[in-house]
Amino acid sequence: MKRILITGGAGFVGSTLALLFKQHYADVDILCLDNLSRRGSELNLPRLKQHGVSFMHGDVRNPEDLARVGEVDWLIECSAEPSVHAGFGESPAYLINTNLNGLINCLEFLRMQGGNLVFLSTSRVYPIATLRHLPLIPQNQRLCIENKPTVVGCSEKGISEAFPLEGNRSLYGATKLSGELFIQEYCHMYGLQAVINRCGVLAGAWQMGKVDQGFIALWVARHFFGGKLQYMGFGGEGLQVRDVLHVSDLFQLLQLQMNQIQDHNGAIYNVGGGMKNSISLCELTSLVTKTTGNSCDIGCVPETREADIPFYVTDITKVNQKTAWEPKISIPMIVEEVYAWMQQNKNALETIFNL
Ligand SMILES: NC(=O)c1ccc[n+]([C@@H]2O[C@H](COP(=O)([O-])OP(=O)(O)OC[C@H]3O[C@@H](n4cnc5c(N)ncnc54)[C@H](O)[C@@H]3O)[C@@H](O)[C@H]2O)c1
Repeated sequence: MKRILITGGAGFVGSTLALLFKQHYADVDILCLDNLSRRGSELNLPRLKQHGVSFMHGDVRNPEDLARVGEVDWLIECSAEPSVHAGFGESPAYLINTNLNGLINCLEFLRMQGGNLVFLSTSRVYPIATLRHLPLIPQNQRLCIENKPTVVGCSEKGISEAFPLEGNRSLYGATKLSGELFIQEYCHMYGLQAVINRCGVLAGAWQMGKVDQGFIALWVARHFFGGKLQYMGFGGEGLQVRDVLHVSDLFQLLQLQMNQIQDHNGAIYNVGGGMKNSISLCELTSLVTKTTGNSCDIGCVPETREADIPFYVTDITKVNQKTAWEPKISIPMIVEEVYAWMQQNKNALETIFNL
C-alpha cells in the first residue's frame, strides 16, 4: 500500500480516516479530495496539512478532477450528500450527481488506473415502511424490539443483511443501493476489488452535526453552545433508537478488510455499534445533560418526517464472524470526546453550530 485517495476527505469520516491512516502508516501517501460543500469541512484542512496529508480541491462529479490524482492503491469513497432527508421537496440533482454519478466516476477512475475500493454505504438502503412496521414496544425511555420477532432479517441483535430490500428507502438510500450494484458489477466485469460497508450512525469529534445529519454532535452542541432541540416524529416522545459507531472503530475494521481484500471482495456488511451501543433520543438527552452539566430546551414535533424511522440497530454478526471485529468505543465515551472537542475549539465551532 503506497497511496490512498479519500474522496470527501475533508468531511467528518474522510478526514478522520485520513489522519488515522497517516498515524498508523506513516510511509503511505494519503490524498484527500473534497469540494468543501459541507459547512465546517474547511476546518479540517489545517489539521490534514499539519499531519502530512495532502489535499486537492476537487469534485467527484467531474471525472477530470479525479484524472488529476494519478495512480492509487486504494480509493476510500467518503464524499456524499449524507442526509437521508435530501431531495424531499427540492431538486435531487446534487444528491444523485454526487452520490451515484460521483461514485461511477470513481469506479471509472479505478477501472482505468487500477486500485481497490472501500465504499461507505448506509443502513438507509433498508426500506422505510418495513422499518416502521417492526414489532416495537416502548420500555422506559426507548423503543425495544419485542421478543422473538418474526420479521426476516430482524432479531434481538438488530437488523441483518437478510432484511428485505423491497420498498421505498429515500433518494439518499436509493443512490447508495444503486452504487452497491454498480460496484458489484465492476467487480465482476472489470476485476475491481471492493468492499461495501452499510454503516449505521457514525459519530466522533469533528462531525459538524446538523438537524438532518449527525445527531450526536448536534445534541452535544445545543447543550454546550445553547439553542433548542426537538424530538421529531413518532409522537414527539424521543423514544426512537439508533446504534452508534465511533469512526475509529470503523478504521479498525477497514484495516482488516483492506489487508485481506480477497476475502471480502464484493461483499456487503452491515456495520454499526450494535445493540450494546444503541441509544434513544431521550436517553441521549440524559447522557449529554450529565456530561456537559447543562440542560437544553427540547420541543416536541409529533408529526413524522417522510424518511424518519423509529428504530435501527445493526446486527453485526456477519462482519464479526468474518473478521472477529467488534466496536470498542461506547456512546458515553463518544459523547465525552465530542464535548471535549467543542470545548477545545469553541470559537471556531460556535459559528458552525450556532445557526
Ligand atoms: N456520518 C454517518 O453517520 C454516516 C452513516 C452512514 C454512511 N455514511 C457515509 O459516509 C460517508 C462520509 O459521511 P460524513 O459523515 O463524513 O459526511 P460529511 O458531510 O462530513 O463528509 C462528506 C464530504 O464530502 C464532500 N462532498 C460533498 N459533495 C462532494 C462532491 N460532489 N465532490 C467532492 N466532495 C464532496 C463534503 O464537502 C464533505 O466534506 C458518506 O458517503 C456517507 O453517506 C455516513
